[in-house]
Amino acid sequence: MSTLFSPLRVGELELVNRIIIAPMCQYSAVDGCMSDWHLIHLGSLALSGAALLTVEATSVLPEGRISYADVGLWNDATEQAMARTLVSVRRWSDIPIAVQLAHAGRKGSTEVPWKGGKQIAVGTINGWQTVAPSALPFLPGDHVPLALDHRQLRGVREAFANAARRAARVGVDAVQLHGAHGYLLHEFLSPLSNRRTDEYGGSLENRMRFPLEVFDAVRAAFPADRPVSMRVSGTDWVEGGWDIAQSVVFAQALEAHGCAAIHVSSGGLDAAQRIPVGPSYQVPLARAIKAAVRVPVIAVGLITGFEQAEAIVSTGDADLIALARTVLFNPRWPWHAAAHFGARVRSPDQYLRAAPRQHPDLFDIGH
Ligand SMILES: Cc1cc2nc3c(=O)[nH]c(=O)nc-3n(C[C@H](O)[C@H](O)[C@H](O)COP(=O)(O)O)c2cc1C
Repeated sequence: MSTLFSPLRVGELELVNRIIIAPMCQYSAVDGCMSDWHLIHLGSLALSGAALLTVEATSVLPEGRISYADVGLWNDATEQAMARTLVSVRRWSDIPIAVQLAHAGRKGSTEVPWKGGKQIAVGTINGWQTVAPSALPFLPGDHVPLALDHRQLRGVREAFANAARRAARVGVDAVQLHGAHGYLLHEFLSPLSNRRTDEYGGSLENRMRFPLEVFDAVRAAFPADRPVSMRVSGTDWVEGGWDIAQSVVFAQALEAHGCAAIHVSSGGLDAAQRIPVGPSYQVPLARAIKAAVRVPVIAVGLITGFEQAEAIVSTGDADLIALARTVLFNPRWPWHAAAHFGARVRSPDQYLRAAPRQHPDLFDIGH
């Protein structure tokens, strides 16, 4: 019996297996509104056989986008566009859907990656003034972000809560907060980007304050029976930056605040990062956090092999695995993994004839 294909509860949400589709920005929205690309992309991944589909980083404010083509959830138009997409996906798939709520902080106002991804200057088309905990740019040459004052912090917190209410209205099953990759919440956590001298900077307790306030605001705004989780960068991979010891303390604080799961990524905050990229390279970070909390922990990053994934969840390094590039390359990865382990996976009725002859029981019919 494969652990990868055993069920698990995250909060009140029942997951049929341990495979999650990680959030993936598509840079294909218009004014924050999902386009028909999102229906194609999410529709395809909804049929993957994974247990949970996470919608890309979805900005809670226009200036919280990474690029002008990011998805948002800040007004009725963006909510309606997401509702249209999800209603169509839902018509053909019962996969639970999570949305990653995000604010890019100082890493906003960029061109889309396939056009170079550079920051676009304030006051030019598709560019805007970025905000951050402190007036420190991400890269030399980027414009200086505005340090958020207390009134503006309240505005960002309320924007997260409002987006969570909109997510609930469009029928999203779970919210993940983006606390990783050098975006706003991570910028508060890391001493490299947070040089504040008020109660939101300095000590670890102070640096955790704003992300925890945002968590509390979202938790209060989202229905109590649906989970809210957080994605963290387990380390900045920079000496003197955010590290795994601080991540463990943060994960324990999140758990105490009612966080349903911790999703462990890394890096993205500082250009000086040196990442030892290789198979499962972030799994040791997930393992360290799993040893310190009781809620489910998700590992991600260069997980490509079926046995590799099985080993992560069966040896207890993590409870779940998430896939990004792996599942873009092979959108039916979970089907192939199920066939490999002799497990069962869901298929749309229209594709039931696809089960290979040597795996006649692959599809979980009549679920
Ligand atoms: C196209 C693409 C878009 C991504 N967008 C997001 C995102 O919106 N939010 C996020 O937290 N991570 C994002 N990531 C990172 C992935 O979720 C994942 O953590 C990373 O790619 C490592 O997993 P992998 O080796 O399976 O790709 C993105 C990655 C890719 C390839």
